[in-house]
Amino acid sequence: MAPQGKLQLCAALLSAVGLVVGQNTTWDHSLYTTSPPVYPSPNATGLAWESAFAQARNFVAQLTLEEKAQLVTGTAGPCVGNIAPIPRLGFLGLCLQDGPLAIRQADYASVFPAGLTAAASWDKGLIYQRGLDIGAEFKGKGAHIALGPVAGPLGRSGYGGRNWEGFSPDPYLTGVAFEMTIQAMQRSGVQATAKHYIGNEQETQRNPSLSPNNVTIEALSSNIDDRTMHEVYLWPFQNAVRVGVASMMCSYNRINGSYGCQNSKALNGLLKDELGFQGYVMSDWEAVHSGVASIEAGLDMNMPGGIAFTVPTPSFWGANITLAVNNGSLNVDRLDDMCRRIMTPYFHLHQNVNYPPIDGSEGDLNFFPLSSYVYNFTKGPSNIDVRDNHAGLIRELGAAGTVLLKNKNNILPLKAPKNIGVFGNDAGDLTNGLYSLAGGFASGDYEYGTLAVAGGSGTGRLTYVVPPLEAIKARARQDGSLVQYILNNTLLTSGSGFSSIFPTPPEVCLVFLKTWATEGYDRTTLLADWNSTAVVNAVAAYCNNTIVVTHSGGLNTLPFANHPNVTAILAAHLPGQETGNSIVDILYGAVNPSGKLPYTIALQESDYAFADITNSTALLETENPDAWQSDFTEQLLIDYRHFDYHNQTVAYEFGFGLSYTTFGLSNLTVRNVYAAGNISATPPRAAVVPGGNPTLWDVLYRATATITNTGRVAGAAVPQLYLSLPQLPGETAVTPPKVLRGFEKVSLQPGQSAMVSFDFVRRDLSSWDTRKQMWTIAPGRIGVMAGFSSRDIRGQTSFAPLS
Ligand code: NOJ
Repeated sequence: MAPQGKLQLCAALLSAVGLVVGQNTTWDHSLYTTSPPVYPSPNATGLAWESAFAQARNFVAQLTLEEKAQLVTGTAGPCVGNIAPIPRLGFLGLCLQDGPLAIRQADYASVFPAGLTAAASWDKGLIYQRGLDIGAEFKGKGAHIALGPVAGPLGRSGYGGRNWEGFSPDPYLTGVAFEMTIQAMQRSGVQATAKHYIGNEQETQRNPSLSPNNVTIEALSSNIDDRTMHEVYLWPFQNAVRVGVASMMCSYNRINGSYGCQNSKALNGLLKDELGFQGYVMSDWEAVHSGVASIEAGLDMNMPGGIAFTVPTPSFWGANITLAVNNGSLNVDRLDDMCRRIMTPYFHLHQNVNYPPIDGSEGDLNFFPLSSYVYNFTKGPSNIDVRDNHAGLIRELGAAGTVLLKNKNNILPLKAPKNIGVFGNDAGDLTNGLYSLAGGFASGDYEYGTLAVAGGSGTGRLTYVVPPLEAIKARARQDGSLVQYILNNTLLTSGSGFSSIFPTPPEVCLVFLKTWATEGYDRTTLLADWNSTAVVNAVAAYCNNTIVVTHSGGLNTLPFANHPNVTAILAAHLPGQETGNSIVDILYGAVNPSGKLPYTIALQESDYAFADITNSTALLETENPDAWQSDFTEQLLIDYRHFDYHNQTVAYEFGFGLSYTTFGLSNLTVRNVYAAGNISATPPRAAVVPGGNPTLWDVLYRATATITNTGRVAGAAVPQLYLSLPQLPGETAVTPPKVLRGFEKVSLQPGQSAMVSFDFVRRDLSSWDTRKQMWTIAPGRIGVMAGFSSRDIRGQTSFAPLS
């Protein structure tokens, strides 16, 4: 097809791919269909990991060519990913296990709250503790490498099937949660994997497919301009590199036309060159589409190794690497660099000394068992219980990540109601088993059972779950209360009435809704599942004190939000195994809610900047290999930035969440803490360290504010700091009206005050200058807004850093 025709076809198909917004007419698709070549792949120098790097150098120097090829290519083994042992050097191999909220396939392990829930807590301490506990469980099972946490998807589209694996569509909030999780996991001794790098914002066509006429249709291309890449999608990955993440998993999708695991700009250019990444890039499973080309582009480890999921051979790598080195098409120096990158974090985290053996039961529990092990993996005892006392943190974080959206006349907390009704198919116990991946990605999407965790490789095998109904019954017993329930949504919406089951309306009606989400699929609606709106309306028609709780793998629009009989709404996200206890703690006031939305709830679906990403019949029938394009035309304006820019009313804004008490904010001040009056627009020249130019992390300004609990009960506030950055001269992309640049969670007794401070590093004050290729502080005043949500601003000031 002629280039012109191709472009026209792409343009015609763009609306089918969706995610197109119109505020920026300067965005030109043709500029973003290619990715510039960046070669050669930078060698690691071991910066910040010097002694481990020396050990790795020594180790790699002893390897034969075949052993080197083996060290970078996955093989069959007991774990989700396996690097073969090299017994003559005392190396027992590497065990790689999913995922971001649990050691997924293992038994006797905990299922933690999802990343989304952790983000909704806005609690750095709990996020860190979650990382420590998750890390300890991986280590206890003998897994060297945990395939998490997630910052891609970031959550550009609310329909994204995997948004819950990550944290928030806000890059700053995700950046903080990402780096704290990585630091904590690695402090527990396991290597963290930051994934999926990068632009992995939808599941639909994440991988190539075959057309009706057997033409290979390439995976979706996420087309992202340079500034958006830096300020939105790369931002949290920069945090990850800075805190020394061991590995990065490249993504399935294409980025500006070139596959994520062979994109030299993304891997050699951004990650290894600009950010100074010293660890290794691992492929997503079956995301490798070439041999030497992917190696030269910066990929260091091929997972699971074979071209197909289930067999280690044939492989683009493995024996083909040996061949390529021998015939001169691959320089062995690059292979040595790959091996050193893989071995350095292993030595840095002392995984060569007394690391627990791989749990003997892992192979049998593996979802994708690679056939016939060629190598002899040393396995330890089976069914090791690694749960420790982690249920306490899980219960606490489950409650802390629950957001109270509505609380009419302070109906919550409950005051020992004597007659309680519980409704909805999300309230009761699981009916299809404890492991949602048992029958494939979509198998957790069944009618009866509470949603504690969503699906795909990011799920976890529950050892138990405390369903809401069970926890409510246990708590109600303390008050001698009646608990009656209908969990059948069909019955609830059949119009048969409640009177035979509830002779008198309950004092409180608790409706539990769920929204399934999973890897492999995007959502088709933002509403909760199972006829949720009709369920709420049916209960609310009968009961004038209806409290709605959502368990959801993403955001939900809430059409019943203004129903007069819906007195309270709680977005409880995905709390993990203690879900029932977490929600009872909030409902009865044992815990004062302090969760805040890590995304925006719009009045209706059509208000968002994104469109349904699965509504693409034309694309599903295409014969054009390059048809799947996703232009990130909204650029920086995702989530609240979009609503702020368009000055649009929303149902519940980013950062919003009620408490059983109230808070005040006063005395907002900002001062210069770095070389007063002597700040340059661009970072001083400095050698790149992990995280990029080190001066990007210099604290330049500090804001402080006083937070006061003005209510009658103890509670925790989440003061949030937003900056309004000036536009760089000549820059055409719209700068968002405000961006989050600080938050803290502060627990206060009634009447108590505390001072909080927010440090702004150079990157916080800068925009990515596409011409200079540098973070640059724009001339002019920076607006500072402090408050309790993105739209509840209680104090404002400004400063001019360059004058
Ligand atoms: C594919 C997923 O995208 C990735 O997140 C996961 O770690 C691997 N499969 C292994 O299960």
